[in-house]
Amino acid sequence: MWSNSFIALSVAAYLPLAISTPIPNTSPNRPSVFPNTDQWPLATIGKALKAQLPDSELQSILAQVSQANIEATVRKLASFGTRHTLSSQTDPHRGIGAARTWITAKFQEAADASNGTMSVAWNSFIKYPGDNERIIFPVNITTVVATLRGSEDPERLYVTGGHYDSRNSNPIDFKGDAPGAVDDASGVAVSLELARIFATYKPKASIAFTAFAGEEQGLLGARNLAQTYKNNSVNVAAMVNLDMVGNSKAEDGTRDPYNIRLFCQGAPLTENSTITTSRLSIGGDNDSPSRNLGRHIYEVASNTFTEMTVRLIYRLDRYSRGGDHRPFLESGFNGVRFVQPNEDYTQQHQDVRVKNGKQYGDLVEFLDFEYNTRAAKVVASTMWSLANAPGEPRNVGVNVTTSDNFSQFKWDAPLGLPVEGYEIVYRETIEPHWTSVIEVGNVNWYNLTSATIHKDNVIFGVRSIGKGGYRSPAVLPFPFGCSRNC
Ligand SMILES: *[C@@H]1O[C@H](CO)[C@@H](O)[C@H](O)[C@H]1NC(C)=O
Ligand SMILES: *[C@@H]1O[C@H](CO)[C@@H](O)[C@H](O)[C@H]1NC(C)=O
Ligand SMILES: *[C@@H]1O[C@H](CO)[C@@H](O)[C@H](O)[C@H]1NC(C)=O
Ligand SMILES: *[C@@H]1O[C@H](CO)[C@@H](O)[C@H](O)[C@H]1NC(C)=O
Ligand SMILES: *[C@@H]1O[C@H](CO)[C@@H](O)[C@H](O)[C@H]1NC(C)=O
Ligand SMILES: *[C@@H]1O[C@H](CO)[C@@H](O)[C@H](O)[C@H]1NC(C)=O
Ligand SMILES: *[C@@H]1O[C@H](CO)[C@@H](O)[C@H](O)[C@H]1NC(C)=O
Ligand SMILES: [Zn+2]
Repeated sequence: MWSNSFIALSVAAYLPLAISTPIPNTSPNRPSVFPNTDQWPLATIGKALKAQLPDSELQSILAQVSQANIEATVRKLASFGTRHTLSSQTDPHRGIGAARTWITAKFQEAADASNGTMSVAWNSFIKYPGDNERIIFPVNITTVVATLRGSEDPERLYVTGGHYDSRNSNPIDFKGDAPGAVDDASGVAVSLELARIFATYKPKASIAFTAFAGEEQGLLGARNLAQTYKNNSVNVAAMVNLDMVGNSKAEDGTRDPYNIRLFCQGAPLTENSTITTSRLSIGGDNDSPSRNLGRHIYEVASNTFTEMTVRLIYRLDRYSRGGDHRPFLESGFNGVRFVQPNEDYTQQHQDVRVKNGKQYGDLVEFLDFEYNTRAAKVVASTMWSLANAPGEPRNVGVNVTTSDNFSQFKWDAPLGLPVEGYEIVYRETIEPHWTSVIEVGNVNWYNLTSATIHKDNVIFGVRSIGKGGYRSPAVLPFPFGCSRNC
């Protein structure tokens, strides 16, 4: 009895208190299904983020992308028989030297129509055997570079292009046919076609259209060009690699013609451990410069004008495969890789042959030039949008001095092209793309006072806006003012 009355007494002692101070019922309606997959947090500030569609100037560029030119380039490059790095440098018809001469002349044709804003150069060196089993004698590695000087912010450079060398089954067989139609005449064809069109326009930042050498022997040409830029303190704002963008067909014949993959690396390869520790402490591992470049490209290039959707892949490249964006990442620059959605391994790096009635080899007849042309429009939208926007805001930080309901950001203006304003973008941390945007005007700090749309609950980014509404990629703010764990 004693214990029962104690329980009765203690319940009674608490009840009046609970009744006299009810917790206000501000709960939303009970969801009809669990788990509730609506975006969370439920509050929104700002507005839904919309894609950046091509303006009339970019539309006119897209309208000029010529499928006939792209097809002619792929056929011409395949006609050199092989473009193996160790093949002839001097034969006028067959081998890498003949291909280099032809590519250089095509870039020069574009430059001739540029009124002096585009110039063509060779980035060339001799690679000696020793540290590379795919180099069996000294060989001249020459990347062709057509640089279009920006009209207002020429010190900021964007690089795009594909590799013109090819290979077949044996990586040191420099005699057998290696037409390299998809890998990577398809990428070089895009680079040449965009150089031709862009040469008569005036992007604000500079763009280098390239044809890389020595990719199949170990990314040799791209590495030398990246190091040349680094040694000369060139501000390479991003490198956009085009490697196999000419076919959407899988080995089983299924096609996926309206998607293109974009490989985007996580934490920068050159980031030091102090920065990486801070990145991990704030959940910034998915907001590297490459990932946010990828999200930007998705916003500017997935639309009815390109008839493509850019499918981000959150990794540097395919498993145990390489590409020419890698040496740029290794030199501390930003870089991403476009590649078609499917790969047919009976056509890639294969001797041209018929086995059991099946045709092997990277032949022109397998290409889908409509797809290659749509890929060119994606790259045109990407390069034009990057080169006409201001640079990214610098030193972007979020104030974590005290634990409070505020998310206070600060940043510095980009160098070069002036901005018209800035935007704070955000998304739920598990969303792949930015979902919301807050226009904050031409200021250098912003104090968001929301307990829900809060730095703990969402990922924020800051981006610049320039003339004509051209946006930069967003930048993840790093914490400042913290005393521990950041
Ligand atoms: C060509 O360049 C010259 C010198 O920079 C300039 O005066 C001229 O206006 C340009 N012409 C065109 C058509 O852009
Ligand atoms: C590579 O070959 C080209 C064409 O002959 C030549 O102009 C260039 O100087 C060579 N590069 C080197 C580093 O020797
Ligand atoms: C860049 O500079 C480094 C260090 O001086 C040097 O070893 C390398 O050969 C240079 N590379 C190029 C392509 O200029
Ligand atoms: C790490 O990198 C950052 C940004 O580049 C730099 O400010 C900092 O000094 C570096 N820290 C170390 C320990 O090297
Ligand atoms: C960061 O926040 C603290 C606390 O609210 C404030 O005192 C300080 O001024 C802020 N720092 C900056 C640079 O705004
Ligand atoms: C942010 O805004 C709130 C509300 O206006 C204010 O109380 C707070 O001090 C501001 N924080 C900073 C660091 O300015
Ligand atoms: C933070 O926001 C919550 C929810 O609006 C509010 O209940 C709380 O009092 C706020 N805290 C401070 C320190 O302002
Ligand atoms: Zn390739």
